Amino acid sequence: MVSSPEPTEIGALVRTLGRWPRKRDVGRQFRVRRFAGPRQHVGALDLRVAHLTDLHVGRVTPMEVQIEAVRLTNAAQPDAVLITGDFVCHSQMHLDALTHVVASLHAPVFAVLGNHDYWSGDREVRWALRRAGAEVLDNAWTTITLRGQRLQVVGLDDAYTGHADWRKACKGLRAARPTVGLSHIAEEADALWAQGVPLVLSGHTHAGQVTLARLHELAVGRIAGHKYVHGLYGRRDPRGTEAPGAVYVGAGIGAAVVPLRVGERSKREVTIFELGYAPGAFEEPLGEQEPLAGRRPSERVRRRRAVAVERKRRRRVGRRR
Ligand SMILES: [Fe+2]
Repeated sequence: MVSSPEPTEIGALVRTLGRWPRKRDVGRQFRVRRFAGPRQHVGALDLRVAHLTDLHVGRVTPMEVQIEAVRLTNAAQPDAVLITGDFVCHSQMHLDALTHVVASLHAPVFAVLGNHDYWSGDREVRWALRRAGAEVLDNAWTTITLRGQRLQVVGLDDAYTGHADWRKACKGLRAARPTVGLSHIAEEADALWAQGVPLVLSGHTHAGQVTLARLHELAVGRIAGHKYVHGLYGRRDPRGTEAPGAVYVGAGIGAAVVPLRVGERSKREVTIFELGYAPGAFEEPLGEQEPLAGRRPSERVRRRRAVAVERKRRRRVGRRR
């Protein structure tokens, strides 16, 4: 882990992006949402993890937003920070900034990549994250020891661009050990639940960014075909239910195209999970929801997405020549 940047370094970082922090209260754009973990962790863990997603470090998301996300996360004093992809937007121009942002998080960081990371150059994004001290899980799991407690973290590579492989990710996982899963695309939770992962953290949707009148469920759910749009789905306490697990879709920190966020659910989000607390042990900001109908991407769509990754890679290589 590299040391956290000094305030002067943050100033330089902000200047490189051409955006000084403005005077308006960026904190009002955020929500810190706190939830209990799954029932399976009760009695086995007493850990706090923070979940961040879709930082999209770059020009669309002011640097003051990234700094506030880091500040809120550190203020919660988590034992670990779990980040579920889309670290960049469309280029590798802000990888130094990304490294500084992630290195500014005080707790150990574990991450998976998202579609924008593949579109911009997955190898370079991984390098920027590792330089910051983060561990990137590409269809792999690791056991971490936090305050003497062992937690398995399973990381699924990006499903949107066709890189997810849950069999590889879960191979050798210990069923008796407490586990959380990370996947940029929330729908992969279904496969991870079947492998005994009771809680999966996800992103990608940005909660639809416009959540007034449930527009996000129309745009991200019905039109884009997502079952899980924002918040908690499934069950953290599977006793007496058919749901074998839960998934949380974070609203994310940044955006890649349009910075607009309208509606309470769309606020930029730092999510805290208290692993070891039973669901219902304290009041939570959102309840467990039923999934939407959803629609799996067709073979044609999956091929098109894979071709897009390769086309963008060729374009990058061509520009370097
Ligand atoms: Fe994203």
